[in-house]
Amino acid sequence: MSQADDIEGSRRDFLYYATAGTGAVAVGAAVWPLVNQMNPSADVRALSSIRVDVGGIEPGTQLTVKWLGKPVFIRRRTAEDIATGRAVEMSELPDPNAENENIAGDAPATDENRTMDEAGEWLVMMGVCTHLGCVPIGDGAGDFGGWFCPCHGSHYDTAGRIRKGPAPKNLPVPVAEFIDETTLKLG
Ligand code: FES
Repeated sequence: MSQADDIEGSRRDFLYYATAGTGAVAVGAAVWPLVNQMNPSADVRALSSIRVDVGGIEPGTQLTVKWLGKPVFIRRRTAEDIATGRAVEMSELPDPNAENENIAGDAPATDENRTMDEAGEWLVMMGVCTHLGCVPIGDGAGDFGGWFCPCHGSHYDTAGRIRKGPAPKNLPVPVAEFIDETTLKLG
C-alpha cells in the first residue's frame, strides 16, 4: 500500500455546514461541542484534514470552525475589506511576512498573499492571537476594521495582519485549498 493510500484510507474528513448570513457565526460556535464529542485527542490524524462547506457564508461574515483543537476564522470579505487591505503600504506592517503556509519562503505580507483567491474575497486564518494565544474578536473589530484581541489590545487589519499592540506576528494562514466552489479543505 502506498503512503498516499494509507493517508486516504485512515483519514476521516468532517464536513461543516454554514447557514446563510449572520447565522454562520452562530453555527460555527455550535459546531465546537459536536467535534469535541468526537474525541479528537484519541486520534489526531482524524482531524488532520477537514472539509468546510462555505456556501452559506455571506460577504461581511465569518464562520469559525475548530480544527486541530484551535479556532479557524473563515471570512468572506466585503469589497471594502479588500480595498482597505490592498491600500496598506508594506512599511506600515510590523510583521512584513505573509505568514501563509500555502506560499513557500518569506513572501511579503501583501493583501494578495494573505487570501485564498485572486479576488481576495476569502481569508482563512488561525483564530489565535500571536501574542499569548487569546481568540481575537472579529467582524470589523479594532482600529483597523479587522480583528481585535481584548486580552492585551492587539489590533489586526482586514487581512489579519498585526497593526498595533503587543502581538508580534500576523494571524497565520494555515494549509488550505478550495476543492470546489463551496468546499474549503483545511490541512
Ligand atoms: S493574547 Fe492577544 S494581545 Fe495578548
